[in-house]
Amino acid sequence: MAIPVVLDCDPGVDDAAGILLACARPELDVRAITTVGGNTSVIHTTRNALDLLALAGIDGIPVARGADRALMRPFLLGTHIHGATGFGGVTLPDAGRAPLPIAAVDLIARVVRESAEPVTLIPTGPLPNIALFLLLYPELKPRIAHICLMGGGVYEGNATPAAEANFRNDPEAARIVFASGLPITMVGLNVTHRALFTAEHTSRLRNTGRKVATAFAAMLDFRMRAYGEQFGFAGAPLHDPIAVAEVLRPGIVTTQACAVTIETDGPYTAGRSVVDLSGVTGAPPNADVAMDINVPAFVTMLLEAIEQYTD
Ligand code: BDR
Ligand code: CA
Repeated sequence: MAIPVVLDCDPGVDDAAGILLACARPELDVRAITTVGGNTSVIHTTRNALDLLALAGIDGIPVARGADRALMRPFLLGTHIHGATGFGGVTLPDAGRAPLPIAAVDLIARVVRESAEPVTLIPTGPLPNIALFLLLYPELKPRIAHICLMGGGVYEGNATPAAEANFRNDPEAARIVFASGLPITMVGLNVTHRALFTAEHTSRLRNTGRKVATAFAAMLDFRMRAYGEQFGFAGAPLHDPIAVAEVLRPGIVTTQACAVTIETDGPYTAGRSVVDLSGVTGAPPNADVAMDINVPAFVTMLLEAIEQYTD
């Protein structure tokens, strides 16, 4: 049976890849997409989610808009990596569809309450929606099977030298999620930076002649330039679909059970995932932390998923 999932995301080029992967695969049943600001404002991330679904011909997935700021602070938008409107300067045709007139947190609650099976959450943006869901609907916590999220990293940062962008954007929310006691898999930068997409991949996508693959290749062009200029990378990582891939093919990342807490203070360290790899704190593990990835399997899986959207 397909695993019921909710994608909570800030599309965003790599979030777009996560949505396309999740919706392409029979192992997953995407029950809802909820949006949050982060890569750009929530107005744009919501528009992007709706327009991407329409372009790909994906019908019937409810979309609701979520938070446009963190619990305790404003977001620091990731427009330097994703462009002003989030899709690397690519404008998709207007879906002509509005999000549901309910808040993201209430849509998550509705899906979780109505599901016959426990639901897996796949957050790939800042975490205020998920933290608020846990605070507002504690009775639904037992109905969450797993939270497999993209965020943090082991000894790596990108928003600051110490902190990854999703956790940096809402450190308090991330701390609430990691203190929830729910099964968590943390897919962080130490793993996502190992799978880089290059011109070889954009050519392959363009050669399909298909509109989703071609649009995604254009987004990836922008991202490769941004990662080259800003980080000196020889390609672009696509962080978010790795969290999706781990749900649909458990073991595509290898993990280590660790105690993880999120630092909330300091100009550089707020949002830092403090991962106790060697057990020095004595705290019990609260997350399975991704340590390595099967890069060829992931790259092939993602490209094949994007290529299968026909016009
Ligand atoms: C994360 O931050 C966002 O910019 C990306 O979409 C990804 O979720 C990487 O640090
Ligand atoms: Ca994201």
